[in-house]
Amino acid sequence: MKIDIITIFPEFFDSFLNTSIIKRAIEENQVDIKAHQLRDFSKRKHHYIDDTPYGGGVGMLMQFPPFYEAIHHLKNEHTKVIMLSPQGKLFNQEYAKKYAKETHVILLCGHYEGIDARVENFIDDELSIGDYVLTGGEIPAMIFTDAVTRLLPGVIHEESSELDSLQNGWLKYPQYTKPESYKGYDVPDILRSGHHGNIEMWRKEQSVKRTMQKRPDLFSKIALTEEEKKIVHKIKTTLP
Ligand SMILES: C[S@@+](CC[C@H](N)C(=O)[O-])C[C@H]1O[C@@H](n2cnc3c(N)ncnc32)[C@H](O)[C@@H]1O
Repeated sequence: MKIDIITIFPEFFDSFLNTSIIKRAIEENQVDIKAHQLRDFSKRKHHYIDDTPYGGGVGMLMQFPPFYEAIHHLKNEHTKVIMLSPQGKLFNQEYAKKYAKETHVILLCGHYEGIDARVENFIDDELSIGDYVLTGGEIPAMIFTDAVTRLLPGVIHEESSELDSLQNGWLKYPQYTKPESYKGYDVPDILRSGHHGNIEMWRKEQSVKRTMQKRPDLFSKIALTEEEKKIVHKIKTTLP
């Protein structure tokens, strides 16, 4: 998969692209990620890319032509163009899974007051990472890129991403590592029992319990299996 990011701050991505799993995925050719300087696509003097909004108002707006040129320079027939924006649909794991199946994505990072609305004629999606306003689209672009890259084949153990929170609707069960006991805080006995069947059941119950308690909004959307209904009943009758 190829991800092209259009931004006025490509250097923002330097450490992101050179650290941890993203770095390894690039080195192993599982993903190709490039941050492009929007100013390189400006035909104006000094490569200016912003101007005042028509109709008046505060702040500067990013101009349409550099984005038009950048998109047309990078795009192919399979490309999906995504504009990062606080007005977009909320990016979540379902979107990450959807875009991990694509071969080429272009991410448009706005800044200042955002981008001239004519760019909307050339996008396939407008995504927001949350209901708050950030200074620019660079952090949202990193969030999108990270969430999608870790789902690409071979980037992390498939089994590991399959068991991640939200991947199948549920939050992940609590996990523990050594030491077994510290200052009176112990790892649950069952995880040290070696009984795989009981451990699996405990994890499933914990996953359901966590989702019910921490994210009732997600829980209410899950179509429960018969086994899960029994677990919910058990949790409800044993909860304080
Ligand atoms: C200050 S914001 C512009 C906000 C715009 N004036 C508005 O009210 O919708 C500048 C840029 O940051 C990015 N941005 C800000 N918040 C975001 C969010 N929650 N999700 C995705 N991108 C965001 C977008 O690329 C946006 O164009």
